[in-house]
Parts: sequence; structure tokens; C-alpha cells
Amino acid sequence: MQPTTRLVSISEFLSEAQRIEGEGVAALSGAADAGALEDARIAFLGDARGALKALQQGLRAIPAPEKPAAGKRFNEVKVRLESLHAERKLALSAADNRSALADPSMPARHPWKGAKHPVSLVIDEIAEIFREIGFTIALGPEAETDWYNFTALNFPPDHPALDAHDTLYLGDDVLLRTHTSPVQMRTLQSYAPPIRILVPGNVYRRDFFDASHAPMFSQIEGLSVDEGISFVDLKATLSLFAKRLFGTAKTRFRPSYFPFTEPSAEMDVECQLCRGAGCPVCKGTGWTEILGSGMVHPSLLEAAGIDSERYTGWAFGMGPARIAMQRYGLPNIRVMYDSDVRFLEQVPQ
Ligand code: DAH
Repeated sequence: MQPTTRLVSISEFLSEAQRIEGEGVAALSGAADAGALEDARIAFLGDARGALKALQQGLRAIPAPEKPAAGKRFNEVKVRLESLHAERKLALSAADNRSALADPSMPARHPWKGAKHPVSLVIDEIAEIFREIGFTIALGPEAETDWYNFTALNFPPDHPALDAHDTLYLGDDVLLRTHTSPVQMRTLQSYAPPIRILVPGNVYRRDFFDASHAPMFSQIEGLSVDEGISFVDLKATLSLFAKRLFGTAKTRFRPSYFPFTEPSAEMDVECQLCRGAGCPVCKGTGWTEILGSGMVHPSLLEAAGIDSERYTGWAFGMGPARIAMQRYGLPNIRVMYDSDVRFLEQVPQ
């Protein structure tokens, strides 16, 4: 379109705009390399002799009542061609980079491979085993009240676990939970039986950080409450669990004591580092304790308003870091907290 002083009709302007748009789109999107793209840019978007510039000048000749419509159309064409140019430019430079990378004589760089931490791996594995037999994941707060963490679980006020050396208090009555067991009471209060939950979570203790203690570590709690549940269910389920995790390794139950279960038992697995022969990890015994368990004390059910004559339950708690040591044959629990990639890279995924 020639710049002109005569008035141009809107229909002439629109058909010219249409032509420029069509030709511009074809030229810009068909540009095969950076040079062709620059030529197309100059021809359509160039300040001096670009087709859009000419179209813009034609706007002046449009009769006043039709100017807004013509201006709107002009802007549409301009925006479309400009963004097409930007897109094409990006695509051509990405292609350039790719062809540089395709140079087969370049030395290979080993890709960084992410690896899951053994504790996460073992938590996933444990969760999967219990999921298959009907347990659901439940969570609870890490900042917990004294009542849920201790009182509701029958810890007497002078119990050594309450000692300031062990528990990190946030206030008079609020602490960082020392175990995942408070989620038992929270669940009993909120849900009616049947209950089958698995609770992974962080717990805190002011222990020394030595070869087998850290101030924060993870635990997994389990709770099953229903009519007619007995110690047989506890033993059968936990034995099945150990078989799934450790294969043919021997396990044993030992009587134990926890204030919130009665009777209570601990489960040991034949030490996987020495296969039962005795080593520093199992302190020469050939066995490693992997969990505490027991029948839910009726006082917990009653405190949550559940009839303890009709319902019974069993519970367990374990430390995935210890289990990961056994599962992956790691001699020192400390390597789990160092997050050293040289160690993490060796964990079978
Ligand atoms: N909460 C206990 C601890 O931290 C572990 C435990 C033992 C949990 C027996 C239980 C249980 O649910 O039944 O040492």
C-alpha cells in the first residue's frame, strides 16, 4: 500500500492488512535460519521500509469514524507478527544449541543421579507392606502436649522419659514429641473402630549424638483396633511384616514393658550384618531389636470413649533408621545422618 493523501476506504485497508498478515506469517514462520529470519523481520517489521510501517501510514488516510476499527486491526497484525518473530528466534537458537551438543567428539559427562535416602526407602517399603494388609497412613503434630505424649499413655509423672535430659520442651505443657505414640490417642479420639493406621513421623530427644542416637529421628507407629483382636493378630502380622522385609531371617519376640500396652513385647531380627554370628552392631548377641509392641492398654480406649469390653487392639513402634541398617547391611547408623553422596550413591535403589 502506498502512503497516500487520498482517503482510503476501510475495506481497502482491511484487505491490505490481511495480505500483509498472511505474507508476514509465511515469511517469519518459514525462515530456515537466523539470516532468513532477519530478512523477514526487516521486510515486515522494519522501521524504514517494513510493510507494517506502510500500513500504519495508511491509517492516517482512513475516514475518522472508521479509524478505531482500522487501528484495532493494525494492532492485531502487529502483535501477531512480532510474537511470531520472537518465537521463531527462540526456536532457531535452541536448534543451534542442540546441534552443537550433538558433536560426538565431545567428552561425556556423567549425569548426576539422584538417590533416595535409605531411611526414606525403608519407610516406603514398610508403608507398602502395611498398605497391602489394610493399614492407612495417619499423621500427627510434632509439637505435642504433655498429655498426648505422656499422661494419656500412662507414663507416671516421675517416669525417666519425662526427664528434661530426654524431652525437648517448647513451653510448660508443650514439647517436641518424643515418639509417634501420641498419634494413637489422637486417632482413637477421632475415629471409630475398626482402626488400622500406620504413622511415620519425626520425633525428638535430647540424647547425645553418638553412633546410635540423634536428637531428631524418625519412627513408625502402628495401631489396629477392632472387635476380637488378640495377641495372635499382633504376632502374626508383625511376623509377616518381618518376613516381607527380611526374607528368611529368624525373628523372636521377647516380653517387655511399655506403660501404654499390656502385655508388651519387643521383636528382634537375626542380625543381618553378621547373620547371627555376633558383631559390634548386635553387641555380640546375634540379634537386633527392631520394634516395640503390645496390646493397647484398655485405659487408652476408655479415655477415648471406646468400649474396652467390646474392642481390643495392638500397637507397635519402630525406628526406620535401625531397620535400614539391618535391611541394607550398614554398620553405623551415623552414615544415615551425614547425607554424604558417596554413601548415598551406594544404596541399592
Ligand atoms: N513409643 C515407643 C518408643 O518410642 C515404641 C513403642 C512401643 C510403640 C510399643 C508402641 C508400642 O506402639 O506398642 O520407644
